[in-house]
Amino acid sequence: MLKGRSLIDPMDFNTEELEEIFVLARDIIKEPEKYIHLAEGKLLATLFYEPSTRTRFSFEAAMLRLGGKVIGFSEPNSSSVSKGETVADTVRVVDCYADIIAMRHPKEGSPKVASMYSKVPIINAGDGGHQHPTQTLTDLLTIKEIKGSLSGMTIGLCGDLKFGRTVHSLIKALSRYDNNKYVLISPYELKLPDYIKKEVLAKNNIEFVEAQKLEDVIGKLDILYMTRVQRERFFNEEDYIRLKDSYILDRSKLDNAKEDMIVLHPLPRVNEIAYEVDEDKRACYFTQAQYGMYARMALIAKLLGVA
Ligand code: NCD
Repeated sequence: MLKGRSLIDPMDFNTEELEEIFVLARDIIKEPEKYIHLAEGKLLATLFYEPSTRTRFSFEAAMLRLGGKVIGFSEPNSSSVSKGETVADTVRVVDCYADIIAMRHPKEGSPKVASMYSKVPIINAGDGGHQHPTQTLTDLLTIKEIKGSLSGMTIGLCGDLKFGRTVHSLIKALSRYDNNKYVLISPYELKLPDYIKKEVLAKNNIEFVEAQKLEDVIGKLDILYMTRVQRERFFNEEDYIRLKDSYILDRSKLDNAKEDMIVLHPLPRVNEIAYEVDEDKRACYFTQAQYGMYARMALIAKLLGVA
């Protein structure tokens, strides 16, 4: 039963519950007009303490397409946060007005704290370099729809594996599906944190290798998940500048990839995928963005208990 629950960590829902969300999302994709009154009379609050376009818009679009309404802020300085209000107090007020809250916060754990104080479901829309479970719902739905399965894949994760919260959440969520292997492609400084290697990969006996060059490994991959170097989490600009163009996927690199490999990216892209790749049939990142809205529609409907 998903009604009334919060989504803070990608492991909060079991695989059957995730499947329930995917089944609904799939039906929404097929017949969106069936769902346009589903959340009528309900209100979503988006509390975004950190910049975002697509995630906030996709939450808002999702709620509006379900017939619900939206309030919120995208700039904490324009709210009482600038007066020093705590997250706990903010949600205790907002939950008096709204039926469900989506929160993005630069500080790891803030949505978790919010969920401890809120009367209504809290959705973690990204907390610092930690987790991003609705991007993971999006990624899983996209993989399932295009590849037909969430098992038996060789998955290349490329770019900023240290600060990239989408990668952390995706590895965690996929650890429950069988026979996936990882190729972790990053510069030495941006390697996947040890705690994820130990607590998720090693603990579940999941095979992984680390690589520094995309060209060396691209031919083995079923999925290539590109990521942006997370400038906002660097301590100094020099390191960012040195590392920002470590990987650029272009047509010549794709020549060595499997015909049915798919390229994903949570977006925004900076430099890591050349525009020429957009024309390739393996480029699925814009479809992925669209599925993100459908995944959030299904999630909101389930947590509100209206579907
Ligand atoms: C990602 C994020 O915010 O972590 N973006 C998103 O939600 N679509 C990835 C990123 O910002 O690089």
